[in-house]
Amino acid sequence: MRDIELIFKENSFGYKEAFKSLRTNIIFCGSDIKVIAVTSCMPNEGKTETSINIARTLAEDGRKVIYIDADLRKSVVKTRYKVGQKIVGFSHYLSGQNELSDVIYSTNVDNMDMIFAGIEPPNPAELLGNTFFTKAIETLKEKYDYVIVDTPPMGSVADCAVVSRNCDGVIMVIGAGDISFKFAKETKKQLEKTNCRILGVVLNKVQTTKRKYYSGYYGTSYYGYKRTKNYYSNEEIED
Ligand SMILES: Nc1ncnc2c1ncn2[C@@H]1O[C@H](COP(=O)(O)OP(=O)(O)OP(=O)(O)O)[C@@H](O)[C@H]1O
Ligand SMILES: [Mg+2]
Repeated sequence: MRDIELIFKENSFGYKEAFKSLRTNIIFCGSDIKVIAVTSCMPNEGKTETSINIARTLAEDGRKVIYIDADLRKSVVKTRYKVGQKIVGFSHYLSGQNELSDVIYSTNVDNMDMIFAGIEPPNPAELLGNTFFTKAIETLKEKYDYVIVDTPPMGSVADCAVVSRNCDGVIMVIGAGDISFKFAKETKKQLEKTNCRILGVVLNKVQTTKRKYYSGYYGTSYYGYKRTKNYYSNEEIED
């Protein structure tokens, strides 16, 4: 396994605390929840930031974690975390060009390994739907306490629905103010069709202060990892 170094930007105290709460809520979902997909309705709501930080926070707690970048269409992970070296990624494995062990990288975060997306293939949904993906998840489940799968947005492409079929649970990231309640409900309905358990919602990019001159400060919060149903079943709330 090759080593890579991820360069993280410094996060605020509140942001880190929100992820610790999220970690607790994930752990309390039960030991049968090991493979977790992270999705959203729209692009840019914060799936990648959220999934990498979930993986990192679980690893910091001593859990053995692997983060998979299954956004084969538009991955930014390699550039965002300033990984300088050439890598082979998930698309290389899914297309049969490499073994699974070739695409797993150990990181400078103890207990956290990573699979990058790799070169953008012409047929992402097909690749994610093939038996290589199922086999990878089965193998990784044995080796790691948690497998965190970063996916493209649910509302744009079918990839997440394909991925979710092989996951134990899915977390929806909602960028505060980015989407309507109606759209969130529609996406939730789509997710339910995959029969994957919806673990909860992360409300991201929450403005954590009312003071205007701090208005550039954003945080992450989470909604009801045990109360998702209540949150969503509030049918009378409409846009
Ligand atoms: N809590 C936050 N506070 C401030 N900026 C954030 C936060 N979460 C994400 N961002 C920023 O928002 C942008 C989109 O984040 P990210 O790439 O994680 O979204 P995504 O949902 O994975 O996007 P895509 O659909 O393109 O994969 C990035 O520039 C990221 O740095
Ligand atoms: Mg992303």
